[in-house]
Amino acid sequence: MSPSDLAQVLRQIPPAVNPEELLVGLDNLDDAGIYRLNDEVALVQTVDFFTPVVDDPRAYGQIAAANALSDVYAMGGQPLCAMNIVCFPRDLDLSVLGEIVGGAVEKLREAGVTLVGGHSVEDPVPKFGLAVTGTVHPDKIVTNSGARPGDYLVLTKPLGTGVINTAAKRGEADPKVVKEAVRVMATLNRAACEAMKEVGVNACTDVTGFGLLGHAWEMARASRVALRVRIDDVPLLPGARDYVKYLPGGSRANREYLSEYLVRRKGSREDEMLLCDAQTSGGLLMAVRPEGLEPLLSAMRRLGVEEATPVGEVVEGPPGRIEII
Ligand code: CO
Ligand code: CO
Ligand code: CO
Repeated sequence: MSPSDLAQVLRQIPPAVNPEELLVGLDNLDDAGIYRLNDEVALVQTVDFFTPVVDDPRAYGQIAAANALSDVYAMGGQPLCAMNIVCFPRDLDLSVLGEIVGGAVEKLREAGVTLVGGHSVEDPVPKFGLAVTGTVHPDKIVTNSGARPGDYLVLTKPLGTGVINTAAKRGEADPKVVKEAVRVMATLNRAACEAMKEVGVNACTDVTGFGLLGHAWEMARASRVALRVRIDDVPLLPGARDYVKYLPGGSRANREYLSEYLVRRKGSREDEMLLCDAQTSGGLLMAVRPEGLEPLLSAMRRLGVEEATPVGEVVEGPPGRIEII
């Protein structure tokens, strides 16, 4: 089962009541749904929650919030308000929940987003996340379906959080490596989104559970193009390569699902696995026209997105094919 198998089922939901106002729905596995209110304003809506990815409850809350907000940023939207989703065990100290929500609120404040409520249920396995509502001008929506041959691909965060989090869960990760991974996961994609809006791009998505290549594949398929990914240019977190043996099952499944679309001309099987590693709160992946590349990278640097890197190109070819070069 892959994210797109799940989406196949969900897409059988009956069509929208006001289909002309549904600007982005389930068709292309986009990051958020978008509904037009009027000619100037559309609502951007998304929800994301997951089981703890790190031991520290405050960091978990920060990461869950950064991750939930990211789907609004990936559409070029401005998040406005959010609701907590809490699953919490009866026998766990409530101060832990206070830390989780406290961490999330720190990130919401940083993003200028108001927490307006939420819902909690008792559950033996803790889960936390947020439903986020934002706005976007109906003409300024960035989807995953506009990539064109000749565009450059730009990735704004290094990869490796899947393998590092798994190593950490087994108690086998270097605390310095974990600390850096937590810092990157808790970083908002807001500045990357601002740079994107300033320069304008053809397509964007964020890199999460389907891994870099999975989300790139979604973009390629929705845009009816093929991609080239330059394996030596893809930024990795310190330690990611050392922990590739901890590759989570989900990352393996990503690789398996994509196998018929991947053509590897360079790098090892392990490298390819890291490109499929399921990310938590990963960066934005953008397709930008050639003359927009330098302005985009310089806007990123100016706004503090140090790790934004060109990682490949959009080419003509069978939709969804990804060549690793
Ligand atoms: Co997303
Ligand atoms: Co999401
Ligand atoms: Co309720």
